[in-house]
Amino acid sequence: MSKITVAIDGYSSCGKSTLAKALAQKLNYNYIDTGAMYRAVTIYCLRNDIIRDSVVDKRKLIECLNEIEVSFVYNTITKTSEVFLNGEHVEKEIRTMQVANNVSAISSIKEVREKMVILQREMGKNKGVIMDGRDIGSHVFPNAELKLFMTADNDVRTQRRLDELMSKGEHHSFEDVKRNLEKRDHDDTTRKENPLIKAEDAIVLDNTDLNKEEQLVFVLKLINDLLLTKDEFNKPLAKH
Ligand code: DC
Repeated sequence: MSKITVAIDGYSSCGKSTLAKALAQKLNYNYIDTGAMYRAVTIYCLRNDIIRDSVVDKRKLIECLNEIEVSFVYNTITKTSEVFLNGEHVEKEIRTMQVANNVSAISSIKEVREKMVILQREMGKNKGVIMDGRDIGSHVFPNAELKLFMTADNDVRTQRRLDELMSKGEHHSFEDVKRNLEKRDHDDTTRKENPLIKAEDAIVLDNTDLNKEEQLVFVLKLINDLLLTKDEFNKPLAKH
């Protein structure tokens, strides 16, 4: 059966990565978390004094871009690709609030985005990929066979992020997490470079009232239908 590209975009903490991971496992596709890439660059910037109090030293960052290498390695235990910064496993560190509070400033920089998009296109060039982020359907893979745009109620999203942080031992107030989430949505939708927008042909998935299983069933059905049509279309015509 032929393989397709699935682009998943949407607001922060909508469950994009949870859905993407589940889909990738079901379909035996690669999962690429593009937010993790911007977060890894943010860690580099925090460690190297390139960002302080959300103010970016853009010149220094551009000078250092060649020294920042972001890659993924498949973890056979967690069954997912995990992000590395210059060869160091940073999957845990990228999820901290400190990184969340600074990542929008880094991801709004044109040169950073250009570098990440080249990597993303390279990783997805053979299809069979589920990629989630903000500009995947609109910019990285405008020809993706399936584009989803995910959204959910703000309070529901905040609670999900709070639970995720708590499970990792980070304790924050509901209000702090909600503020961070709303600020990132605002920054992501209003930035100049490839802002978060719904691609015209994206299917909206509002998962406020849907559990993980229901979302998975919904999207698998879409993918199945697409693959059937695609393979039917590619079948050689019978000779008479
Ligand atoms: O999906 P996430 O919360 O891990 O993403 C972290 C940040 O990176 C988010 O605030 C927006 C940015 N991002 C982006 O600008 N473009 C992408 N394709 C993915 C993430």
